[in-house]
Amino acid sequence: MRMCMLGGNGFMCMLGGHGLRLVLAVGTVLFAASSVAVAQSAKPVSFIHDVAPILKENCLACHDAKKKSGKYDMTTYEKILAGGSGGEPIVPGNPEASEFYELIVTSEQRRMPPRDKGEAVPKEKAAIIAQWIKEGAKLDAGIDPKADLVKELRIRWKPPVPPKVYPFPAIVNALTFTPDNQHLVVGGHHELTVWEVATGKLVKRIYTRAERAYGLAFLPDGKLAVAGGRPGQEGDVRIYNIQAQGHKDGDVEILDGVNDQAVLVKHLFDVDDSVLCLAVTPDGKTLAAGGCDRAVRVFDLSAGWEKAKLTQTVENHADWVLGCTLTPDGKYLITAGRDKTAKVWDLQAKESVVTFPEHKETVYAVAVKPDGSTGFSVGADRQIRTWKPNGEGKQVKSAGGHSDEVFKVVAHPKQPLLATSSADKTVRLWNADNLTATKQLTGLGDYVYAVAFSSDGELVAGGSYDGTVAVWKVSDGSTVKVFNASPGLTSAAASPQPGPSKK
Ligand code: HEC
Repeated sequence: MRMCMLGGNGFMCMLGGHGLRLVLAVGTVLFAASSVAVAQSAKPVSFIHDVAPILKENCLACHDAKKKSGKYDMTTYEKILAGGSGGEPIVPGNPEASEFYELIVTSEQRRMPPRDKGEAVPKEKAAIIAQWIKEGAKLDAGIDPKADLVKELRIRWKPPVPPKVYPFPAIVNALTFTPDNQHLVVGGHHELTVWEVATGKLVKRIYTRAERAYGLAFLPDGKLAVAGGRPGQEGDVRIYNIQAQGHKDGDVEILDGVNDQAVLVKHLFDVDDSVLCLAVTPDGKTLAAGGCDRAVRVFDLSAGWEKAKLTQTVENHADWVLGCTLTPDGKYLITAGRDKTAKVWDLQAKESVVTFPEHKETVYAVAVKPDGSTGFSVGADRQIRTWKPNGEGKQVKSAGGHSDEVFKVVAHPKQPLLATSSADKTVRLWNADNLTATKQLTGLGDYVYAVAFSSDGELVAGGSYDGTVAVWKVSDGSTVKVFNASPGLTSAAASPQPGPSKK
C-alpha cells in the first residue's frame, strides 16, 4: 500500500497510479495557466488566487494548525504575517529581507521545505511569492485576515464541465439502481450518469461539484444522497433531485447539479478530503458518511432531508474510513478502516462497542444482515469474514475465493445473500448464513470497485476501473447487459489505459 502513504493525495490505494497521474496532470496545467497570466498582465499578484495555492501545495503539510513546525501556523493570512518562534518572516515591499522568501530560494542548508523532506518550490512559483511581497504582501479585498485559507480556496474553486465525449474511461467507484430498477446511476468524472439497464443507453447526466462519487443512496422519497470528493482537496455529501427538469442534448437530458437548486437540493457538509462511504437506513431517517478525515458524520433525517441535523461526528478509526453501514434500526454504525479493523459504534450510547481485528490488512467494506445479527467485512486479505456486531467481535467464520483484494460487500435486500467485488475482476455471490460461494460473475475487465443489488433483489450490477458496468440476474447469474459507462467513449479509446498499479 505504498500509494496510500502519500498523505493528502486522496484515495490512491483504490485508484492506483492512473488516478494519481491524472490529478497531477490537471494540477500542472492549471498552474501553468495562472503563472502565465501573472507574467503577462500588469495586474498585482493576488494572495488568494496566486500565492495561497502555492503555500497549500508546498508548505501547509508542516505548517498547518496541527503541526505548526517552528511554531509557525500558516493557515490564515494573519498568522502567515505573524510568523512563528522567529518572529515576523515577511517584510512587506522587500522580499530579500523576508525570511519567508529567502528560505524558499536559499542555497544554504536550511531551506523550506527542508532539503531532506521535499523538493524546492519551482522557480516560477517562488517568483510569484517574491512579487507578492514586493507589492506589499497584501490580502485581497473582501477576505477576512482570520479566514482559513484552505476553506477560502475551496469556496473559490469552480468544477469543470464534464467532457461531452470522454477521452478516457471514467473509473466506476460507485453505482446504484434507481428505485424502479429500470436505470443505473453511475459515478463519472464530475458528474453522475444514468443508464437504461435493458439497453445500456445513456439517458441522463447530472453534473456535480465532486470529481468522483464514492457512495450513492436513494432516500425513500426518491432523492439521491451522494458522497464524493476531489482527492486531497475536498469531499462532500449532497442531495440531488435527479427527476428535476434539465435540458436536452440530443437524446440525453443534462441536469446542472452544481448551480441549479432544483437539482442540488441540499448540501449536508464538506471537508478537506474525499468522503468515501455513505449509508442510509431503509426508513431514510439516519444517514452516515465517512472518509479520509477518519470521521463518520451521522445525520438525523427524521424530520426530512430538508431539516437534516448533524447528531454526532464519530472518530473511531486511526486512519481513513473506507466503508460504512448502519443496522436497519439505526442503532449501530459499522465501519471499515485503513487501520485494518472493522468497528461497531453504538449511536445511542455514543461509544465504540466492538473492534474486529481479524483481517490484519486494510478493511475496505462492511455489511450487516437486515436483522442486525451478523456483521460482514472484506479487505485486502481477500477474505470475507463474519462476526457478531454485539459482544466481543469474535469471528464466526471466514471464507476465501477471490484471488485478489476484495473492495465491496453488500447485502441482498430480501434473501440471505451477499455480493462482493474484487480486484480479481469478478463479482461473487455468497450464502450469508454459511458463507459458501454460490456464483462467480464475470464480464468485467479490471478491478471491480462497485457492486449493488436492485431493490427488488432480482439484479446485481458491478462497476469497474476501466469504466465497464455489468448487470447480471441474481437467480441464475446470466448476463443482462455489459456497457462502458463513460459517455461517448469509443472502444478504441477504452482499451489502452494501463491497469491500476498494485501495491
Ligand atoms: C516537511 C515539513 C516542512 C515543509 C513542507 C515546510 N516547512 Fe517551514 N519549517 C519546518 C520546520 C521543521 C521548521 C522549524 C525548523 C526551522 O526553522 O528550520 C520550519 C520553519 C519555518 C520558518 C521559520 C519559522 C520561525 O518563526 O522560526 C519559516 C518562515 C518557514 N518554515 C516557511 C516555510 C514555507 C514558506 C514553506 C513552503 C514553501 C515551508 N516552510 C514548508 C518544516 C517544513
